Amino acid sequence: MTNSETKEFIVNDASGKLGVLLPGLGAVSTTFIAGVLAIRKGLAKPIGSLTQMNHIRLGRRDEGRNPLIKELIPLVDLDNLFFGTWDIFEDNAYESALNAGVLEKDLLDQVKDELSAIKPMKAVFNRKYVKKLDGPHVKKAANWYEYFEMLRQDIRDFKQKNKLDRLVMVWTGSTEIFLTRSEIHQTKAAFEKAMKENHPDIAPSMIYAWAAIAEGIPYANGAPNLSADFPAAYEFADEMRVPLTGKDFKTGQTLMKTILAPGLKARMLGIEGWFSTNILGNRDGEVLDDPESFKTKEESKLSVLEHILQPDLYPELYEDLYHKVRINYYPPRRDNKEGWDNIDIFGWLGYPMQIKIDFLCRDSILAAPIILDLVLLLDLAGRADFKGIQEWLSFYFKSPIHAENLYPEHDLFIQLMKLKNTLRVIAGEKEITHLGLDYYQ
Ligand SMILES: NC(=O)c1ccc[n+]([C@@H]2O[C@H](COP(=O)([O-])OP(=O)(O)OC[C@H]3O[C@@H](n4cnc5c(N)ncnc54)[C@H](O)[C@@H]3O)[C@@H](O)[C@H]2O)c1
Repeated sequence: MTNSETKEFIVNDASGKLGVLLPGLGAVSTTFIAGVLAIRKGLAKPIGSLTQMNHIRLGRRDEGRNPLIKELIPLVDLDNLFFGTWDIFEDNAYESALNAGVLEKDLLDQVKDELSAIKPMKAVFNRKYVKKLDGPHVKKAANWYEYFEMLRQDIRDFKQKNKLDRLVMVWTGSTEIFLTRSEIHQTKAAFEKAMKENHPDIAPSMIYAWAAIAEGIPYANGAPNLSADFPAAYEFADEMRVPLTGKDFKTGQTLMKTILAPGLKARMLGIEGWFSTNILGNRDGEVLDDPESFKTKEESKLSVLEHILQPDLYPELYEDLYHKVRINYYPPRRDNKEGWDNIDIFGWLGYPMQIKIDFLCRDSILAAPIILDLVLLLDLAGRADFKGIQEWLSFYFKSPIHAENLYPEHDLFIQLMKLKNTLRVIAGEKEITHLGLDYYQ
């Protein structure tokens, strides 16, 4: 592979075939895969994807340099993506997409051959961790370590059989029950020992992540499960020089929250209460109907306001904020979620006001471009030899993985600046501070 020199980073070129590994072939992953196939055929546009549509300003505003991100940085061409998945059901990607009911049959039929050819491998699964699901298409082994070895073999076979140059993995499987870090998550040695002892603090999503890291594959977690968010995984990722990112795609209601809250805070308006409720009728909604899976999601959704609003710095404005999040499973809505927010704010002299949001959103439509961007940017991170936690990708997540000594950055606009400045620096360009003073230019 040839290298192209930048000021600070050597980035291997983007040529060759990139394998996209997706544990979980459900609504989000099939919407992503079918979308990429449709876009390749010119049937639709990659709306919502920064890597495909966003321009990036370089230099001073009067220089007029605004290339597309993908013109500034060499990213893998969509034609060179190749998909591999695991699921507990045998349905191929066409069948699963029909079942998810997100995309219209007309569109799916135009990419039916490619979708039908994508058949999931047998999953590493245990009902204990996703109580509302059960399926027949699962591996059998004596302990987590054996499962880990099986996944590694799957990955190697997939790579070899399809003659792939590189791989990335994005967890698009169900939300698992709420687990917190314990002593087994602290070091690589402790975690590997615990895998052999079949420890109950280990969940399947951790095994996929561990297999990805062991195979040197960049990994992103689209759900709120711990998966790779613990010190042992950071240690292993550092050792293997693997980029890691997550958790929980920032779509729907939390996206709105991280757009709105920074704006209210920027104007120093107070918030007394923020009540968020959702109705959702897809399989994800059904899984989240289980209190233990919901708890994982709830933690992820609740944390954003605290970090954006900084009540410790602004006690008069945010200390007493009452924040509540509900998700209700309501089958008639399928993937078309409805999210209501009632926000009680106060202004000058403490006078109260209210904001109401009713977002009739499509969850998987919002998540699919996030997966595409993560696939391409994680591959970029791998080619740039970045390792460990990739904080510059926080933009895409509800609960960004962050270094132990830092708080996570949730403000969408700061996250975007971080993302774009990282891309500028990778390309050997100056970061942009938006400072308008002439003598600093
Ligand atoms: N906007 C969004 O849709 C959105 C946003 C943030 C996070 N997420 C998360 O993304 C994930 C996928 O969402 P979805 O709507 O596609 O859900 P889904 O239920 O349609 O798909 C999940 C799939 O994962 C499979 N699965 C579960 N455990 C598995 C395992 N151990 N190995 C392999 N496959 C497994 C299930 O059988 C199912 O087919 C969920 O965890 C969800 O919370 C979605």
